[in-house]
Amino acid sequence: MTGIQERLATGKGKFTPRYPELGTGPVSYEDSISQEFFDAEREAVFRRSWLKVGRVEQLPRTGAYFTRDLPGLGSIVVVRQADDSIAALHNVCAHRGNKVVWQEHPAQETKGFCREFSCKYHGWRYGLDGKVKHVTNSDQFFDLDMSTLRMPQLHCDVWAGFIFVNFAEDAEPLRSFLGDRFLELETYPFDKMTQRWGFRTRIKGNWKISIDALLEWYHPPYVHGRFIDPDVSKAEKLVPPVDSYHYDIFVPHMLTSVPGPPLLPPREAGRAGPAVRDQKWIYRLFRAGLFGPDDVPDLGPMPDALNKGRIASWGNDQLWAFPNLSVQLWARNYYITYQYWPEAVDSHLYEVDIYFPPPSNAQERLAQELVVDSTIEFAMQDSNTVEATHSAVATRATRQFQLSDQELLIRNFHKVVGDTVAAHQNADPTQEQR
Ligand code: FES
Ligand SMILES: [Fe+2]
Repeated sequence: MTGIQERLATGKGKFTPRYPELGTGPVSYEDSISQEFFDAEREAVFRRSWLKVGRVEQLPRTGAYFTRDLPGLGSIVVVRQADDSIAALHNVCAHRGNKVVWQEHPAQETKGFCREFSCKYHGWRYGLDGKVKHVTNSDQFFDLDMSTLRMPQLHCDVWAGFIFVNFAEDAEPLRSFLGDRFLELETYPFDKMTQRWGFRTRIKGNWKISIDALLEWYHPPYVHGRFIDPDVSKAEKLVPPVDSYHYDIFVPHMLTSVPGPPLLPPREAGRAGPAVRDQKWIYRLFRAGLFGPDDVPDLGPMPDALNKGRIASWGNDQLWAFPNLSVQLWARNYYITYQYWPEAVDSHLYEVDIYFPPPSNAQERLAQELVVDSTIEFAMQDSNTVEATHSAVATRATRQFQLSDQELLIRNFHKVVGDTVAAHQNADPTQEQR
């Protein structure tokens, strides 16, 4: 063990035996390559869970709206109502089914402000609440009861400024779905972190294999070696020991909590920083890196719920909201959301949004940009592995895979998805035939 590792070691460790229901045997990845399972999962998991679709800052006043085209689920319009509440509507016209809200291209998402929505096909108009307000040539129709016509609503609710929707007819309340471990983070200052960098890409791999890549911190010396140290044996000695991490499972959600590097000492007045041009030189000059800016903005008191594992040199808590959202809260006062939208059994859209307090000067802005750059670089390295893993697993040349103690969240995640699909099929056996 190196000095860094000794300083961070806790002597805890051995995580999986705390969760006997998870077992310790090899696992199958059939749930990530089977078309049949993919179809069942969309019904049981994605059509029945609360899904984050945006933030309240995207809807600053009445009439503000944005559309989301959610693969396999449909297009929706999320809109701020006259009473300031937020509603979600299926983006479909009651006349002949045209998509109501779009701009140049029907497949592209859009946003804006309006008083009413107007269908481009025959000009029917809808209020912000989705109800039909005006039918063109209405005397041409037969027994038309306008009061019953609308863009259908779906469940929509807000937690801590995050807007969620649920496609189920009978959705459990959002707060009970999220549970105590999320609710105790309600006072986290998400509302102060409005400087956002957003990225989206398509990854040719199953969405769960992509989530697996962030559920363990076993891979960094190998996948991210060039960043840590190109010499793998040195990189292995620079990452924290396995027992310095903290894992928590609160079905269906879960969390990893990880250590991070100490802050650089404050910058000496009038000095740019050390002029050593090694590969980390720019991080010292800009005073930022993968774990955030070194000059941490003061955002006031933070909720006690952070760093529950009491990691001495805490780096971040990464919460996983079932099924497809992660919220990563960093010790250096910024946060990242990761979201995964399955398009097909072997493809998903991957969204990474990084939020900081607005920078107050150029140095803070540059530090944030360097954090963003490092984060995206790491994310791309992870994505490469996901594509390589999916294509190899899909051959079915090997059907059983091995998970170590520090990969217990992967074991848990696949079990929860499988249990959710099984419970749904048992409750409604017709689902299997659909
Ligand atoms: S389809 Fe919308 S007005 Fe005809
Ligand atoms: Fe990674």
